[in-house]
Amino acid sequence: MQTTAKPVTYGASDRPPRGDYSRAREDYTCDQGWDAYTADEHGRYARLVARQLKHVEGRACDEFIAALSHLGDAQGIPRFENINQLLKPATGWEIVAVPGLIPEREFFTLLANRRFPVTYWLRTEAEFDYIVEPDLFHDLFGHVPLLFDPVFADYIQAFGAGGLKAEGLHALEYLSRIYWYTVEFGIMQTPKGLRAYGAGILSSVGELEHCLTSPQPNRVAFDALRLMRTRYKIDTYQETYFVIESFDELFDATAPDFAPLYQALRDLPELPANAVEPGERTYAPNPLAQPA
Ligand code: PHE
Ligand code: CO
Repeated sequence: MQTTAKPVTYGASDRPPRGDYSRAREDYTCDQGWDAYTADEHGRYARLVARQLKHVEGRACDEFIAALSHLGDAQGIPRFENINQLLKPATGWEIVAVPGLIPEREFFTLLANRRFPVTYWLRTEAEFDYIVEPDLFHDLFGHVPLLFDPVFADYIQAFGAGGLKAEGLHALEYLSRIYWYTVEFGIMQTPKGLRAYGAGILSSVGELEHCLTSPQPNRVAFDALRLMRTRYKIDTYQETYFVIESFDELFDATAPDFAPLYQALRDLPELPANAVEPGERTYAPNPLAQPA
């Protein structure tokens, strides 16, 4: 098939793309190609899920835990069409396969249309514990459960529409920080304590514990302007987590027109990933579990 889809790489541009971009349609979506998964890949996916299920209990937010069963029995890699049969009636979202990272405009366009891109390929055995770029396990296990939550589902669509707008305003760097610190690395203060909702945390074993209990990172109350000033690290645990108290709060805080914020940001200094501003509200970590 002749297409215009060009590979997109993560970090160093000399890394070869992992997915087959020649399979992609013009909007960068492709078929999942479920029949091509090997028995090894099905088994690895099942082991990744089984391991992570043990860690999310008591650490992921209730909305995430409640939706996990919709991913299927996790004996192997699910068919996206089976998930969509549940997801579409629940929130109007669907997942679509992609060969890996896709350009920003196509990414925002999919989100604005309630279509979430999921990488079709799975990490290798050597990458079982850590992988730099998003793969099937991160995208599916980390992101898809919260698409079943009505408020979070609306939030991601609004983010996509906001991305298309930010592109025109040359504010993509600011807006991408919102995605990073919420959809990927967000945490929530709940009556039961801090819980994670960001997919980058929920698909990682180490950071899931670290973000909730370590005394090291800053945990700063969510504030859109403060957040958009803050740089982030892509190759270590986060040095700052922004804390929301509910998805309603997140949705309401990001609903206003960002154009004036983008304007203000141009005159404000950026903050390093580990900054704490004078007088700002921070959250204490969860107590460490006591040995029995
Ligand atoms: N309200 C933002 C704007 O006007 C869009 C947005 C929604 C951004 C949700 C982030 C998250 O650009
Ligand atoms: Co992700």
